[in-house]
Amino acid sequence: MNHFPFRNDQLQVEDLPLTEVAERFGTPCYVYSRTALSEAFAAYRDAFAALNPLICYAVKANANLSILQLFAKLGAGFDIVSGGELARVLAAGADAGKVVFSGVGKSEAEMEMALQAGIHCFNVESVNELVRLNAVAGRLGKRAPVSLRVNPDVDAQTHPYISTGLKGNKFGIAYDIAYDVYREAAALPNLKVTGIDCHIGSQLTDAAPLIEALDRLLLLIDRLQAAGIALEHVDIGGGLGIRYHDETPPDLPAYARAVAERLAGRGLRLVMEPGRSLVGNAGVLLTRVEYMKLGEDKNFAVVDAAMNDLLRPSLYSAYHAIMPVTRVAGLPALTCDVVGPICESSDFLGKDRELAVAEGGLLAVFSSGAYGSTMSSNYNTRPRAAEVLVDGADARLIRRRETLDELLANERELLA
Ligand code: LLP
Repeated sequence: MNHFPFRNDQLQVEDLPLTEVAERFGTPCYVYSRTALSEAFAAYRDAFAALNPLICYAVKANANLSILQLFAKLGAGFDIVSGGELARVLAAGADAGKVVFSGVGKSEAEMEMALQAGIHCFNVESVNELVRLNAVAGRLGKRAPVSLRVNPDVDAQTHPYISTGLKGNKFGIAYDIAYDVYREAAALPNLKVTGIDCHIGSQLTDAAPLIEALDRLLLLIDRLQAAGIALEHVDIGGGLGIRYHDETPPDLPAYARAVAERLAGRGLRLVMEPGRSLVGNAGVLLTRVEYMKLGEDKNFAVVDAAMNDLLRPSLYSAYHAIMPVTRVAGLPALTCDVVGPICESSDFLGKDRELAVAEGGLLAVFSSGAYGSTMSSNYNTRPRAAEVLVDGADARLIRRRETLDELLANERELLA
């Protein structure tokens, strides 16, 4: 269902006009639909119900504590990639026993933190990481649960910056050596080998590479079983795409059926790590037009959000749909670039868009729930945007707009 409908020529989030959100909380502002978040989670839970999976929401997509709390209440586990993300998950009241820890660069301090918290599993990405984890666990008198992130060498056919499952990527343990690495892991006294995982890329619009990767993991699981290494779970990662423009994302129930077929009778617990597909289309970035700058070659709508708020267009040339929040009768549409106030030509949110908008008007940048606020920065000393969660006609501030005092705090007291 669309939770950003137009009513009386006003764009709403659920039952609340976005104009009201802007009045109450200011702009730029991330606005999320609670129902859209819950429905996205339910879609996963229902599609995979027969497998009773552990759905570990990938925190990096949107790490707001209130969103983590919502998913925790819905029964989610979490995929984290740093001690910081672990701290967030714990602060949101989530169960550490449902957390998997991914990433190629886990520090000793992060390993300690996760071992003390009692996470479900470390997704280990190299032999050296295994050795380090074994040492840290030994020092703490613990046994670390591990899964090896295997790089299945499958082409995810997505943007090269977010493709992770090919030999040339820094991620995972090469498929050819994974069997031997498992044997090494099984011999380390402070590790308990419990699973296998992979993640081949993000924003996949075809599920075939995901299934191909799973098939490769299953071959390896069989070889390991024969060698006496019995795994408890298989973690198929995240990566399902969403519609930003005209993409057709993979059909979730069909994907679930393909996975279920392959796992039937194996006694393996399914773990997965979806990020974007749970939050991406549940949020918009709300921004106000500061200036219309009309020129001979190009028109610009200069808005108060910028690449520091939403980096995806600048970094990946990503397309985000942009719409005026109010449809004004008689206002002509212009072709314009939607740009921010930052001093870079790459500071744009959209190019060559047909928009009927005037100075002071509001625009909504769609599909901004994933990798929006989490990738924001303070470039040009711009405070990070506020975040608001809407439920029906109720809006709740879930992140205060940063203040300039907060931005200067770490330096001001250190002035000579
Ligand atoms: N698991 C692991 C190990 C990952 O590295 C990722 C994403 C996920 C799960 C979640 O993937 P998803 O379901 O969201 O596709 N900043 C980029 C996306 C980077 C994705 C990094 N890894 C973007 O804005 O498109």
